[in-house]
Amino acid sequence: MKLVTILGTRPEIVKLSPTLPIFDKIFEHIIIHTGQHYDYNMDKIFFEQLHLRDPDYNLDIGSGRQAEQTGKMMMKIESILINVKPDAVLVFADPNTPLAGALVASKLHIPVIHFEAGCRSFNKKMPEEINRILTDHCSDLLLAPDKVAYDNLIREGFDEKQIHVVGDIVFDATNRNKQFITDSKILEKFGLTDNNYVLVTIHRAENTANKESLGEIVDFVKYLSSKIDVVFPLHPRTRDTLKSFGLTIDPKIKVIEPQGYIEFLKLISSSRFIVTDSGGVQEEAVVFNKCCLVARNETEWTRLTDIGKNILATNKKENLIKWSDKLLNDDELNRIKKISFEFENDVSTKVVNIIKDFMENDIKK
Ligand code: UD1
Ligand code: UDP
Repeated sequence: MKLVTILGTRPEIVKLSPTLPIFDKIFEHIIIHTGQHYDYNMDKIFFEQLHLRDPDYNLDIGSGRQAEQTGKMMMKIESILINVKPDAVLVFADPNTPLAGALVASKLHIPVIHFEAGCRSFNKKMPEEINRILTDHCSDLLLAPDKVAYDNLIREGFDEKQIHVVGDIVFDATNRNKQFITDSKILEKFGLTDNNYVLVTIHRAENTANKESLGEIVDFVKYLSSKIDVVFPLHPRTRDTLKSFGLTIDPKIKVIEPQGYIEFLKLISSSRFIVTDSGGVQEEAVVFNKCCLVARNETEWTRLTDIGKNILATNKKENLIKWSDKLLNDDELNRIKKISFEFENDVSTKVVNIIKDFMENDIKK
């Protein structure tokens, strides 16, 4: 059976990593990389560090406005899918890449499998929210990470037979790869010491698209750096928008390039806590029992914020300051560390078995 996987951004590469070698063994497996992310440290480094083979196609789409980027992807994906004639197409999560892949495949009547289905922020101003909803509704098999996502899909009218709650593949990827971080020299490289710095990542459109919201973040990190070391691997979107708004990050903050996956996991594992608007980082942090202040007004990972492992701090500087002051207090941090959370085990095996069964039994019917 022929499976085409479509990916394009760094978190999609991480999410494919645990199952890629298995798909290569059991299917005729073809990978299309849209080239949505293309800098070495946003793309190729993940293939190298995770020991993944090269994609079969690279579409070199690059950056662009929402419709421009998605439309260009669709045109190229369509030509390939018409030639390759896969039995199914697999896409991940919520960037423009999975939307393009799912739209094209479903119009060609090729069954679509959506990994990380059902996540919702209920904020339709986010491009990712539109992408998730549309990708789910183009999909035939929906692999949901948790019960919250399952309930969202049921509410939107999906048949329960289409949905499988498989757990969170990011936990699997992190658990498999955390053994490699011990050799990392990233702390020494940036003069950081264990448990004595805060790791910050910001890249979402809602935090970077206008000067006011990005200014709130800039002011907050300046405040934070007056209390503790702050290291800020800068996503290229944030780098570009800071420049275009004429905003500068306080020189006390260690602003660094986007890091490789292993270096970044090391930065998570040794941090005191994390401030982020990333989806993946919220999930990875809990594997290392680190608390995230989520610099957003909503999150898809409510099962972590509901129990208090992560904190939905909003992107307003006064709230971020209030919460970070709390986390600078050892008692509060230790209280959060003691909150228990149960990880799903072996998500990859579950996913592979479900996809195999779907390809061998359901598609042919
Ligand atoms: C995209 C996803 C987002 C995901 C994120 C992961 C969409 C709508 N958003 O956001 O859901 O969380 O990837 O990081 O798909 N750029 C570079 N080099 C690169 C890639 C991007 O310089 O290799 C710069 C370009 O100026 C580009 C900007 O970053 O315009 C944004 O890139 P894009 O892929 O459009 O969106 P992300 O913010 O990365
Ligand atoms: N990541 C990385 N280096 C960095 C920042 C993030 O390797 O400098 C990894 C991180 O470990 C996670 C993924 O990139 O696996 C998350 O990507 P991002 O935050 O860009 O996207 P999101 O998860 O929000 O879609």
